[in-house]
Amino acid sequence: MHKVIFDTDPGVDDAMALLFLHRHPEIDLVGITTTIGNAPIEITTRNALFLAEAWGIEAPVAQGSGEKFDPKRTNGHWPTFIHGDNGLGNITIPEVIARKADPRPAHQFIIDTVRANPGEITLVAVGRMTNLALVLKADPDVAALVKDVVIMGGAFDVPGNVTPAAEANIYGDPEAADLVFTAPWRVTAVGLDVTMQTVMMRTYLAEMAKVGGKDVQLLNDLSQFYIDFYNHRVGDGMVIHDSCACVYVVRPDLFQTRSGAMRVVCGGIADGMTIQKPDAKTFPPGDWDGHPSQFACTGIDADAVLALIRSVL
Ligand code: BDR
Ligand code: CA
Repeated sequence: MHKVIFDTDPGVDDAMALLFLHRHPEIDLVGITTTIGNAPIEITTRNALFLAEAWGIEAPVAQGSGEKFDPKRTNGHWPTFIHGDNGLGNITIPEVIARKADPRPAHQFIIDTVRANPGEITLVAVGRMTNLALVLKADPDVAALVKDVVIMGGAFDVPGNVTPAAEANIYGDPEAADLVFTAPWRVTAVGLDVTMQTVMMRTYLAEMAKVGGKDVQLLNDLSQFYIDFYNHRVGDGMVIHDSCACVYVVRPDLFQTRSGAMRVVCGGIADGMTIQKPDAKTFPPGDWDGHPSQFACTGIDADAVLALIRSVL
């Protein structure tokens, strides 16, 4: 059984990933922590509580930071044109949600849960890396107690999706991501190199909704706005970025990875760019030395990933 804390900014593709984690029989979802990214923190937290209530997910929801790790940075704009003004494709969300957030800030919830389950927790982070960076700042020794860190983030050998250099989750908080990549825990980055190959067609999701009951129908409803955004980019479907990271936890054999130290450019024209120094290559001594070797996904069996999601949902 994989014990997972899901750090997320719901977010349409986050919602599918959440339902996958909840439904997968080998995953024990022990907590949901919220981050900024697709919407401000109040909205992503409200959305996490709404989805947890709608889908009967009992794991606690803890609200994360509403600001970037480096106080000199400002939050910028929210991608309402991708996820809708309410972060969930502008579906109607009830004014009052019975589920309430855990009183602890997300990073404290993560620290407490990891310390109570040493060596057992996998952190799956599919928004900005702010909460994970705050964990490292508040309690650096926790890194050694985490089983695995799997993130959706980065663009290693392909262009970014916010700038030519940077992917959204990394661009949103570059200093946080650089800290996460260089910490002494194992990080696997499931980035645009593989997620952009994983497209779920509108009809495929609609077929799933027909047989998947009201939970998948809700997912189908909230995904329509996002599919409309992706429509002319990938055909009549959507890129299921965050679900790819969740699938990696249970089926790493569906991915190819490359090992090597990873860093994030912080500032300038390539702000938020992810760079990996492959272990197989040598360079003169420099900034790459002394950092842990992490894993970047370079290949994916997209059909098998889609089929797994379909069967689990
Ligand atoms: C990532 O950015 C967000 O919009 C998505 O939810 C995903 O986590 C893709 O770059
Ligand atoms: Ca996300």
